[in-house]
Amino acid sequence: MIIPGSASQTLAAALARETGRPLAAVDRHRFPDGELLVTLDEQPDGGAIVVASTVSDAAFVELLLLQDAAREAGATTVTTVVPYLGYARQDRQFASGQPISVRAMARAIASGTDRVFTVDPHERSVLDRFDVPAQAVTGAAALATVLPDDLTDPLFVGPDAGARELVRAVRDGYGAGDVSVLEKIRRSDRTVELTVRDVSAADRDVVLVDDIIATGGTMSEAVAALTARGADRVYATCVHPLLADAAYADLSRAGVTEIVGTDTIERPVSRTSVAPAIAEALAGQA
Ligand code: R5P
Repeated sequence: MIIPGSASQTLAAALARETGRPLAAVDRHRFPDGELLVTLDEQPDGGAIVVASTVSDAAFVELLLLQDAAREAGATTVTTVVPYLGYARQDRQFASGQPISVRAMARAIASGTDRVFTVDPHERSVLDRFDVPAQAVTGAAALATVLPDDLTDPLFVGPDAGARELVRAVRDGYGAGDVSVLEKIRRSDRTVELTVRDVSAADRDVVLVDDIIATGGTMSEAVAALTARGADRVYATCVHPLLADAAYADLSRAGVTEIVGTDTIERPVSRTSVAPAIAEALAGQA
């Protein structure tokens, strides 16, 4: 049985179709004091798979409650798919007195499940923060399949060196094109400086690839930098289209041709699904 978090209903439904598993009905009640109560309307027949992106603190609490409800309902195993793992970018202490936030989140999730899957975490090392087996799935193939077939002399670009592996994977999925990464210096939560070196973008279609578009600061700078170098169409693609604040408008103002994301986070730009990749990973552990 697939148990959907309220922020991951589209992906949970796609995964249910992909795997032939039933999709659970979940009743949610909010008490006057703001606390959430979830109720599964059916008993799982065997294992339960909770699918819930932790896009907010409320979504995180809901995930913990769904895991516990699955156990209480008699699930033989609980598998948790966290398509977008919130707090993953807080993967170390940046100053004394701070927590390692992703470790705190991972420990809480691991206490109620047998196995975890997530999609393109910011750093693979976050998988080690779970006290149960944890595995990463990539959304690269999903992004590659939704790009136009007629890209001109395509150039696949990552905004920093950390994106190189993902950029290569999207290019490989597309089947043609060069790969390059920019140099990035982060000045603040919302401001970055990007440098384009040794790459000609003139008259080419550019596909920017990153794990996440959060404030859109990184992608907007990249779109502007590549456009200034004469790029023709510029696609901003990401696995996790968080698109906080004015990200969509900022990218549009920067001249992006199209923004494309997957359904790890449900947004209007979530045009492609990671359900096949997750289904394959689930089949691999069966
Ligand atoms: C950072 O290393 C990540 O890969 C993304 O580039 C970054 O988190 C995007 O954030 P924003 O959209 O706020 O610039």
